[in-house]
Amino acid sequence: MTDRYAVFGNPVEHSLSPVIHRAFAAQFGVDMAYTRQLVAAGGFDTAARQFFQGGGMGLNVTVPFKQDAYHFANRLTARAKRAGAVNTLAVQKGRAVLGDNTDGAGLVSDITGNLGWSVVGKRVLILGAGGAVRGILQPVLAQNPRELVIANRTVEKAQQLVKEFTRMGSLSAVGVDNLVDLQAFDMVINGTSASLGGDLPSLPDRLLARNARCYDLMYGAAPTVFMNWATGHGALAVADGLGMLVEQAAESFFLWRGLRPATEPVIAALRVSLM
Ligand code: ATR
Repeated sequence: MTDRYAVFGNPVEHSLSPVIHRAFAAQFGVDMAYTRQLVAAGGFDTAARQFFQGGGMGLNVTVPFKQDAYHFANRLTARAKRAGAVNTLAVQKGRAVLGDNTDGAGLVSDITGNLGWSVVGKRVLILGAGGAVRGILQPVLAQNPRELVIANRTVEKAQQLVKEFTRMGSLSAVGVDNLVDLQAFDMVINGTSASLGGDLPSLPDRLLARNARCYDLMYGAAPTVFMNWATGHGALAVADGLGMLVEQAAESFFLWRGLRPATEPVIAALRVSLM
Protein backbone atom coordinates (compact mmCIF):
# COMPACT_ATOMS: atom_id res chain seq x y z
CA MET A 1 0.00 0.00 0.00
CA THR A 2 1.20 3.52 -0.74
CA ASP A 3 2.23 5.39 2.42
CA ARG A 4 0.94 8.94 2.54
CA TYR A 5 2.92 12.03 3.58
CA ALA A 6 2.32 15.74 3.08
CA VAL A 7 3.56 19.24 3.83
CA PHE A 8 1.11 21.60 5.54
CA GLY A 9 1.60 25.34 5.23
CA ASN A 10 0.10 28.66 4.19
CA PRO A 11 1.31 29.55 1.63
CA VAL A 12 2.50 26.15 0.49
CA GLU A 13 2.36 26.14 -3.30
CA HIS A 14 6.06 26.92 -3.68
CA SER A 15 7.23 24.27 -1.19
CA LEU A 16 9.96 22.08 -2.64
CA SER A 17 9.32 19.33 -0.07
CA PRO A 18 7.30 17.08 -2.42
CA VAL A 19 10.08 17.14 -5.02
CA ILE A 20 12.70 16.40 -2.39
CA HIS A 21 10.85 13.53 -0.72
CA ARG A 22 9.87 11.93 -4.02
CA ALA A 23 13.57 11.99 -4.98
CA PHE A 24 14.48 10.37 -1.64
CA ALA A 25 11.77 7.72 -2.03
CA ALA A 26 13.02 6.91 -5.54
CA GLN A 27 16.52 6.25 -4.17
CA PHE A 28 15.16 3.35 -2.10
CA GLY A 29 12.17 2.28 -4.17
CA VAL A 30 9.88 3.30 -1.29
CA ASP A 31 6.19 3.40 -2.27
CA MET A 32 5.10 6.77 -0.89
CA ALA A 33 2.87 9.64 -1.96
CA TYR A 34 3.82 13.16 -0.83
CA THR A 35 1.50 16.11 -1.40
CA ARG A 36 1.21 19.80 -0.52
CA GLN A 37 -1.80 20.89 1.52
CA LEU A 38 -2.84 24.51 1.93
CA VAL A 39 -4.24 24.83 5.46
CA ALA A 40 -6.44 27.77 6.46
CA ALA A 41 -5.37 29.99 9.37
CA GLY A 42 -6.63 28.38 12.57
CA GLY A 43 -7.29 25.11 10.74
CA PHE A 44 -4.15 23.16 11.54
CA ASP A 45 -5.53 20.83 14.23
CA THR A 46 -8.55 19.75 12.21
CA ALA A 47 -6.52 19.22 9.05
CA ALA A 48 -3.79 17.26 10.85
CA ARG A 49 -6.31 15.10 12.73
CA GLN A 50 -8.09 14.29 9.47
CA PHE A 51 -4.80 13.46 7.79
CA PHE A 52 -3.67 11.04 10.47
CA GLN A 53 -7.13 9.50 11.01
CA GLY A 54 -7.21 8.88 7.28
CA GLY A 55 -4.04 6.78 7.54
CA GLY A 56 -1.40 9.47 6.81
CA MET A 57 2.05 8.47 8.10
CA GLY A 58 3.88 11.77 8.44
CA LEU A 59 3.77 15.52 7.91
CA ASN A 60 6.20 18.30 7.33
CA VAL A 61 4.98 21.58 8.76
CA THR A 62 6.00 24.98 7.54
CA VAL A 63 5.09 28.61 8.18
CA PRO A 64 2.93 29.55 10.08
CA PHE A 65 2.05 26.23 11.74
CA LYS A 66 5.23 25.05 13.48
CA GLN A 67 3.89 26.07 16.89
CA ASP A 68 0.49 24.45 16.20
CA ALA A 69 2.33 21.25 15.29
CA TYR A 70 4.26 21.50 18.56
CA HIS A 71 1.00 21.49 20.50
CA PHE A 72 -0.60 18.86 18.26
CA ALA A 73 2.11 16.23 18.89
CA ASN A 74 1.47 13.61 21.60
CA ARG A 75 5.22 13.33 22.22
CA LEU A 76 8.17 15.60 21.46
CA THR A 77 11.85 14.94 20.80
CA ALA A 78 14.29 16.83 23.04
CA ARG A 79 15.33 19.08 20.17
CA ALA A 80 11.70 19.93 19.34
CA LYS A 81 11.12 20.85 22.99
CA ARG A 82 14.14 23.15 22.97
CA ALA A 83 13.13 24.72 19.67
CA GLY A 84 9.53 25.23 20.87
CA ALA A 85 8.46 24.35 17.33
CA VAL A 86 7.85 21.25 15.24
CA ASN A 87 8.54 20.82 11.52
CA THR A 88 8.03 17.05 11.35
CA LEU A 89 5.21 14.85 12.65
CA ALA A 90 5.49 11.07 12.54
CA VAL A 91 2.98 8.37 13.40
CA GLN A 92 4.28 5.87 15.90
CA LYS A 93 3.05 2.52 17.20
CA GLY A 94 -0.42 2.87 18.70
CA ARG A 95 -1.04 5.87 16.38
CA ALA A 96 0.62 8.36 18.77
CA VAL A 97 2.13 11.30 16.87
CA LEU A 98 5.74 12.28 17.55
CA GLY A 99 6.84 15.89 16.94
CA ASP A 100 10.42 16.62 15.92
CA ASN A 101 12.37 19.63 14.71
CA THR A 102 14.97 18.81 12.06
CA ASP A 103 15.81 22.38 11.00
CA GLY A 104 18.89 22.84 13.18
CA ALA A 105 20.30 19.43 12.36
CA GLY A 106 19.74 20.25 8.68
CA LEU A 107 21.67 23.50 8.96
CA VAL A 108 24.59 21.86 10.78
CA SER A 109 24.73 18.98 8.24
CA ASP A 110 24.86 21.48 5.40
CA ILE A 111 27.48 23.72 7.01
CA THR A 112 29.82 21.03 8.33
CA GLY A 113 29.12 18.19 5.87
CA ASN A 114 28.28 19.67 2.46
CA LEU A 115 30.19 22.94 2.76
CA GLY A 116 33.00 21.65 5.00
CA TRP A 117 32.91 24.72 7.25
CA SER A 118 33.99 24.13 10.83
CA VAL A 119 32.21 25.91 13.68
CA VAL A 120 34.51 24.62 16.42
CA GLY A 121 36.36 27.45 18.18
CA LYS A 122 34.89 30.12 15.89
CA ARG A 123 33.29 33.45 16.73
CA VAL A 124 29.81 33.07 15.30
CA LEU A 125 27.13 35.74 14.81
CA ILE A 126 23.47 34.93 14.24
CA LEU A 127 21.27 37.71 12.88
CA GLY A 128 17.65 37.54 14.02
CA ALA A 129 15.86 36.15 17.06
CA GLY A 130 12.61 34.72 15.67
CA GLY A 131 11.34 31.18 15.23
CA ALA A 132 13.96 30.21 12.65
CA VAL A 133 16.81 31.20 14.98
CA ARG A 134 15.28 29.47 18.00
CA GLY A 135 15.26 26.23 15.98
CA ILE A 136 18.98 26.33 15.14
CA LEU A 137 20.56 27.60 18.39
CA GLN A 138 21.11 24.33 20.21
CA PRO A 139 22.57 22.38 17.24
CA VAL A 140 24.91 25.29 16.44
CA LEU A 141 26.01 25.57 20.09
CA ALA A 142 26.62 21.80 20.14
CA GLN A 143 29.33 22.43 17.52
CA ASN A 144 31.33 24.28 20.19
CA PRO A 145 31.84 27.74 18.76
CA ARG A 146 34.19 29.87 20.87
CA GLU A 147 31.43 32.41 21.18
CA LEU A 148 27.94 32.84 19.77
CA VAL A 149 26.36 36.29 19.57
CA ILE A 150 22.70 36.82 18.66
CA ALA A 151 22.01 40.23 17.14
CA ASN A 152 18.46 41.42 16.64
CA ARG A 153 16.70 44.64 15.70
CA THR A 154 14.59 44.15 18.85
CA VAL A 155 17.32 43.38 21.36
CA GLU A 156 14.89 42.06 24.01
CA LYS A 157 14.07 39.06 21.82
CA ALA A 158 17.76 38.19 21.51
CA GLN A 159 18.16 38.59 25.28
CA GLN A 160 15.25 36.23 25.88
CA LEU A 161 16.88 33.55 23.71
CA VAL A 162 20.16 34.00 25.57
CA LYS A 163 18.34 33.46 28.85
CA GLU A 164 16.81 30.23 27.59
CA PHE A 165 19.91 28.76 25.93
CA THR A 166 22.73 30.13 28.06
CA ARG A 167 23.55 26.81 29.73
CA MET A 168 24.48 25.32 26.36
CA GLY A 169 27.48 27.51 25.54
CA SER A 170 29.04 30.96 25.48
CA LEU A 171 26.12 33.05 24.33
CA SER A 172 25.32 36.77 24.34
CA ALA A 173 22.82 39.21 22.85
CA VAL A 174 23.24 42.57 21.15
CA GLY A 175 21.07 45.03 19.26
CA VAL A 176 21.94 45.16 15.54
CA ASP A 177 22.81 48.83 15.98
CA ASN A 178 25.52 47.94 18.52
CA LEU A 179 27.32 45.38 16.33
CA VAL A 180 29.76 48.11 15.38
CA ASP A 181 31.29 47.91 18.88
CA LEU A 182 32.11 44.20 18.63
CA GLN A 183 35.13 42.28 17.38
CA ALA A 184 34.83 40.78 13.88
CA PHE A 185 33.21 37.35 13.33
CA ASP A 186 34.44 34.16 11.62
CA MET A 187 30.94 33.07 10.67
CA VAL A 188 27.68 34.98 10.22
CA ILE A 189 24.34 33.22 9.83
CA ASN A 190 21.42 35.33 8.66
CA GLY A 191 18.22 34.12 10.30
CA THR A 192 16.14 37.26 9.82
CA SER A 193 13.12 37.14 7.59
CA ALA A 194 14.28 40.50 6.18
CA SER A 195 15.78 38.94 3.05
CA LEU A 196 12.33 37.65 2.08
CA GLY A 197 11.46 41.24 1.29
CA GLY A 198 14.89 41.93 -0.25
CA ASP A 199 15.86 43.76 2.95
CA LEU A 200 18.82 43.56 5.31
CA PRO A 201 19.53 44.97 8.78
CA SER A 202 22.17 47.66 8.50
CA LEU A 203 25.51 45.96 9.23
CA PRO A 204 28.86 47.57 10.05
CA ASP A 205 31.55 47.42 7.34
CA ARG A 206 34.05 45.61 9.54
CA LEU A 207 31.77 42.83 10.71
CA LEU A 208 33.68 40.01 9.00
CA ALA A 209 37.04 38.64 10.14
CA ARG A 210 39.56 37.40 7.54
CA ASN A 211 38.31 34.21 5.86
CA ALA A 212 34.81 34.65 7.26
CA ARG A 213 32.01 32.42 6.03
CA CYS A 214 28.43 33.64 5.64
CA TYR A 215 25.23 31.59 5.47
CA ASP A 216 21.68 32.73 4.75
CA LEU A 217 18.84 30.47 5.94
CA MET A 218 16.85 31.76 2.95
CA TYR A 219 17.44 30.61 -0.61
CA GLY A 220 16.33 31.56 -4.07
CA ALA A 221 17.23 31.63 -7.74
CA ALA A 222 19.62 34.53 -7.16
CA PRO A 223 21.95 35.27 -4.22
CA THR A 224 20.11 36.95 -1.33
CA VAL A 225 20.77 40.56 -0.27
CA PHE A 226 22.76 39.23 2.68
CA MET A 227 24.89 37.02 0.42
CA ASN A 228 25.64 39.96 -1.83
CA TRP A 229 26.54 42.07 1.20
CA ALA A 230 28.88 39.29 2.43
CA THR A 231 30.60 38.91 -0.93
CA GLY A 232 31.03 42.67 -1.11
CA HIS A 233 32.60 42.71 2.35
CA GLY A 234 35.27 40.10 1.69
CA ALA A 235 33.68 36.83 2.85
CA LEU A 236 35.75 33.79 1.89
CA ALA A 237 32.65 31.70 1.25
CA VAL A 238 28.93 32.40 1.02
CA ALA A 239 25.97 30.00 0.90
CA ASP A 240 22.21 30.06 0.90
CA GLY A 241 19.81 27.74 2.73
CA LEU A 242 18.97 25.33 -0.11
CA GLY A 243 21.29 22.70 1.34
CA MET A 244 19.70 23.15 4.77
CA LEU A 245 16.26 22.63 3.21
CA VAL A 246 17.32 19.31 1.70
CA GLU A 247 19.18 18.21 4.83
CA GLN A 248 16.25 18.93 7.15
CA ALA A 249 14.09 16.92 4.75
CA ALA A 250 16.59 14.04 4.90
CA GLU A 251 16.32 14.08 8.71
CA SER A 252 12.51 13.93 8.42
CA PHE A 253 12.77 11.07 5.93
CA PHE A 254 15.06 9.22 8.35
CA LEU A 255 12.57 9.70 11.17
CA TRP A 256 9.76 8.33 9.02
CA ARG A 257 11.52 5.51 7.19
CA GLY A 258 14.77 4.75 9.07
CA LEU A 259 16.72 5.37 5.84
CA ARG A 260 19.36 8.04 5.15
CA PRO A 261 19.00 9.36 1.60
CA ALA A 262 21.87 10.78 -0.46
CA THR A 263 21.36 14.55 -0.37
CA GLU A 264 24.02 15.86 -2.75
CA PRO A 265 22.33 14.82 -6.03
CA VAL A 266 19.04 16.27 -4.78
CA ILE A 267 20.64 19.61 -3.86
CA ALA A 268 22.37 19.73 -7.25
CA ALA A 269 19.15 19.00 -9.15
CA LEU A 270 17.19 21.62 -7.20
CA ARG A 271 19.90 24.20 -7.79
CA VAL A 272 19.54 23.68 -11.52
CA SER A 273 15.74 23.78 -11.37
CA LEU A 274 15.81 27.09 -9.47
CA MET A 275 17.83 28.78 -12.21
P1 ATR B 1 10.93 33.43 11.43
O1 ATR B 1 9.98 32.34 11.80
O2 ATR B 1 11.30 33.47 9.98
O3 ATR B 1 12.13 33.45 12.31
P2 ATR B 1 9.88 35.63 12.93
O4 ATR B 1 9.75 34.76 14.13
O5 ATR B 1 8.79 36.58 12.58
O6 ATR B 1 10.11 34.78 11.62
O7 ATR B 1 11.26 36.44 13.09
C1 ATR B 1 11.72 37.31 12.10
C2 ATR B 1 13.10 37.82 12.48
O8 ATR B 1 13.61 38.65 11.42
C3 ATR B 1 13.11 38.68 13.72
O9 ATR B 1 14.36 38.51 14.36
C4 ATR B 1 12.96 40.09 13.12
O10 ATR B 1 13.46 41.14 13.95
P3 ATR B 1 12.53 41.77 15.11
O11 ATR B 1 12.49 40.74 16.22
O12 ATR B 1 13.21 43.01 15.51
O13 ATR B 1 11.18 41.98 14.49
C5 ATR B 1 13.85 39.96 11.91
N1 ATR B 1 13.52 40.95 10.85
C6 ATR B 1 12.48 40.90 9.99
N2 ATR B 1 12.52 41.96 9.15
C7 ATR B 1 13.61 42.68 9.46
C8 ATR B 1 14.21 43.88 8.95
N3 ATR B 1 13.68 44.54 7.91
N4 ATR B 1 15.36 44.32 9.52
C9 ATR B 1 15.90 43.65 10.57
N5 ATR B 1 15.38 42.53 11.11
C10 ATR B 1 14.26 42.04 10.56
